[in-house]
Amino acid sequence: MLLTLGNIAIVKTNRTPKKNMSLPRRCMTSDKGTFGAYTAEERWPIIVQNAIDDVEAELKDIKDRGDDSEQILEDGELLKKQLIEFREEILANTPLRKFTEQEIAIANIPLSFNETLDETADINKSWISSEWLFTEVYMYRRINVLFKSKKSPFWQEFDIFDRLKQSTFKASLHGVVELAIRYKKLSHELQSLDLSSGESQEVLKILFKEFTEVSLWGNATDLSLLTSISLEDIKSIQGAKAREASESKIVVNDTDKAWDALISSKPGNRRVDFVLDNSGFELYADFLMGAFLLRSKLASKCIFHAKDMPYMVSDVMMKDFETLLKDLEDRDFFPVTSGSEDDLALNDLATDIRDFIKEGSFEFRTDSFWTTELDYWNIDPSEKKYHGAEIHNDFTKSNLVIFKGDLNYRKLTGDRTWPRTTSWEAAIGPLAHNGVPTLSLRTCKATVQVALPEGKDEELSAVWEKDHPGQGSWWCCSGKWAVICFSDGK
Ligand code: F6P
Ligand code: MG
Repeated sequence: MLLTLGNIAIVKTNRTPKKNMSLPRRCMTSDKGTFGAYTAEERWPIIVQNAIDDVEAELKDIKDRGDDSEQILEDGELLKKQLIEFREEILANTPLRKFTEQEIAIANIPLSFNETLDETADINKSWISSEWLFTEVYMYRRINVLFKSKKSPFWQEFDIFDRLKQSTFKASLHGVVELAIRYKKLSHELQSLDLSSGESQEVLKILFKEFTEVSLWGNATDLSLLTSISLEDIKSIQGAKAREASESKIVVNDTDKAWDALISSKPGNRRVDFVLDNSGFELYADFLMGAFLLRSKLASKCIFHAKDMPYMVSDVMMKDFETLLKDLEDRDFFPVTSGSEDDLALNDLATDIRDFIKEGSFEFRTDSFWTTELDYWNIDPSEKKYHGAEIHNDFTKSNLVIFKGDLNYRKLTGDRTWPRTTSWEAAIGPLAHNGVPTLSLRTCKATVQVALPEGKDEELSAVWEKDHPGQGSWWCCSGKWAVICFSDGK
């Protein structure tokens, strides 16, 4: 499917700050033959089914442990029933409904969802006839409200995706150890480097590139795609050799521009932000990049932004930071021989990160903005209702804001049907000029794609088409290619 611009829409809603602009419409779940349509019809029911299975497994564990909390068991059974009904609602393609006042109060749901449903009633009709981005985000809210409305705090705070997050991270042992050893060696080498010399700057630039790629490819393993990725695939994605080979798979690469912008800012007081994506291996890779930036004195502070509810299957929540550190220290979780090089590397890395947290150079934050359906054109002073203006103001104080992963890329570009050669600056709207230095690290897992040189889309479509007849344009939904896009925000 080649995206064309036969679909310009006049945007009048408050969901984009600039009113009355002509923009391509958003990707729809009704776009026949697209990954969005496939996601809505096939993948969403699987995601909800996995949630049902998870509640069932948890209930079994509770019973096996002999916990006698009637309320927890009762709530768990009710949840299972409600999730089954919810899955049927998606499969039956019912109309999208607004959240009730009671749901809004119980689950603290931003009013933006109902406002959007009001404003776009003619567009957002039903599960497979709606804007893909809106409906996907809405689905996770609908799941969350079921948990929040239970009497027992156990289920109110339950992360339905925790089991999957943990089991996949555990399966990443190979890549985790390899990177911890690499980091340890590097930390020693950095100590002997004269960081002010020109030669060191060259070395640091190469390392910056390496860690940017570690963080980028960490995104290749988001768990919502586990329906199609094997654990063997994950291991190979995470190995150093595979990462090197993957460089040719980075189809837009603005790393040099990001480096130049970072290095041109005043040293000694640099701040880097990570708008995080997935927990487990990706968060681990992001921590490594943050640790490298601090150790090399390229930055003095890293701020990590997490989600405030279970989201997009594997996205990082505040509690996942500590879980990850405990996993690194737990030899039942990562069973390497005590006293071995692997063991020491894992422990040392965990200690380094704990020290960064103690001294305040690693900071963790969350905000409800990240789990609204609002795209990042709303990170702008004009968005006054849902924290877009506050986040914008805060990010103007950062020297680099790294947006991780696919969903963040979709929100940066509004998940619109842009021609794939559209410039990055045009696709990110206000962020291109409102003072936020923006770096997107994304393995491509959705339809929206911009900033390609002329001919690249056709070339990659032809490559993908060979093994996937009729689906050539899905190359950018496969997670096999990636982009690194930068704007200095000026
Ligand atoms: O449908 C693809 C998808 O599941 C989207 O929901 C989302 O954009 C993405 O993959 C999740 O990937 P990531 O974790 O990289 O944001
Ligand atoms: Mg994710």
